[in-house]
Amino acid sequence: MNNRQIIVTGASKGIGLSVASELARRGYLPVCLSRSGKGDVGRQVICDMTDESAVRRAFAEIGASGPLVGLVNNAGVHIPGSAATVTTRDFEKTFALNTTAVMVAAREVFPHLRAAGGTIVNIGSFFDKLGVPDNLAYCASKAAVAAMTRVQAVEWAKYGIRVINVAPGYIETDLNREYLSRAKVRNWMEGRIPTGGPGNPEDVARLVAALFNEEIGFLTGETIYVDGAQGINH
Ligand SMILES: NC(=O)c1ccc[n+]([C@@H]2O[C@H](COP(=O)([O-])OP(=O)(O)OC[C@H]3O[C@@H](n4cnc5c(N)ncnc54)[C@H](OP(=O)(O)O)[C@@H]3O)[C@@H](O)[C@H]2O)c1
Repeated sequence: MNNRQIIVTGASKGIGLSVASELARRGYLPVCLSRSGKGDVGRQVICDMTDESAVRRAFAEIGASGPLVGLVNNAGVHIPGSAATVTTRDFEKTFALNTTAVMVAAREVFPHLRAAGGTIVNIGSFFDKLGVPDNLAYCASKAAVAAMTRVQAVEWAKYGIRVINVAPGYIETDLNREYLSRAKVRNWMEGRIPTGGPGNPEDVARLVAALFNEEIGFLTGETIYVDGAQGINH
């Protein structure tokens, strides 16, 4: 049973590592892609997701080594920048990993899934529907992920491939630990997030793993927010 491979990108730490742990707990074999290869769950493959030929090589090798049943597009970067000052370089760097690499990974995994079906989970963000000051590139890159999810879901449903966008709110990881530790930010979060504060990587990971495990065939193309209701709080 645990030879069913699921590729998890950016799984050396944070949300990706937690997703890999939850998948392993449910009997899958997470194949963890990162630049450092430092994760400690499943199989580690060193791969920079912005290097298209490296991604192709890695996916071919993984596909040849056992059944591949899914992909979690998790690797992401956050570079602040406002509408008036964001540099083209930072905008393109954000898109290269958060958006282009998500498209490439889904496209390259498709041939491996089309015969038997499978599940692709993209990790977006609740910033995809918000106008967050100083976050122009990040918001846009994640909105594009939600849009790609819809197209992939519609095109690939006939192959039994479901594509779902899981969009977290604030989750404490290395991506934001320093920011979230500021007293002013903590206080603001407690007032702003109806559940009382930021979530844990496990909150996201348990949802992602359940999407694989529960095989809800009629659920595809949607964005599911895991944000403690912050995104709908007026
Ligand atoms: N934390 C939050 O509040 C939050 C909220 C909404 C959405 N998200 C999204 O959730 C995802 C994970 O975020 P996180 O907070 O867990 O981030 P994190 O703790 O900074 O971890 C990022 C992971 O991505 C890997 N990575 C970075 N660049 C890579 C590249 N070019 N190729 C391959 N792997 C790469 C890193 O490993 P290496 O350094 O070893 O490559 C690491 O494993 C991201 O897409 C993020 O946008 C996070």
